[in-house]
Amino acid sequence: MRRAVCPGSFDPVTRGHLDVIGRAAGLFDEVVVAVGLNRSKNALFAPDERVAMLTEACAGWPDVSVQLFEGLLVDFCSEHDVTAIVKGLRSASDFDYELRMAQMNRRLTGVETVFVPTAPEWAYVSSSLVREVALLGGDVVGFLPPGIADRILERVQQRRVQT
Ligand code: PNS
Repeated sequence: MRRAVCPGSFDPVTRGHLDVIGRAAGLFDEVVVAVGLNRSKNALFAPDERVAMLTEACAGWPDVSVQLFEGLLVDFCSEHDVTAIVKGLRSASDFDYELRMAQMNRRLTGVETVFVPTAPEWAYVSSSLVREVALLGGDVVGFLPPGIADRILERVQQRRVQT
């Protein structure tokens, strides 16, 4: 049984993420989507909210589960019997960054990383850009899985009331 992990911050999950998760599910027997416990003050969604949104977005894939993780990704991989880390690559700058992480992770425990080229339609999409556009009043519906757009609009409105 080959289990892969798709790690990330997912603040929020985008259609680009789902493209990579779905393709990982086609390559491996099981996929665990691992949500890093990033407590940044700039986060739009709390970790448990990100897990809930991902769980909803991945509900159509029976072999995909979602979990929070804290600490080193390689430790999560060892504890969950993960064969490979799957990452999407949007650009050469992604590659430069991801290659070093892949090499470090392999050096730490031997875990392999598999890179999946992002589908061209999502190549410019990132959670940070989606957050910025949403917070400045732009339309982000097309970049998000169904149901997530409503939550981001609600959160943006809450932020505006608070400031
Ligand atoms: O969506 P992101 O923000 O690019 O996700 C980054 C994430 C969570 C995958 C990465 O920061 C990570 O693996 N963090 C866990 C800590 C760790 O293992 N650091 C060493 C990496 S070589």
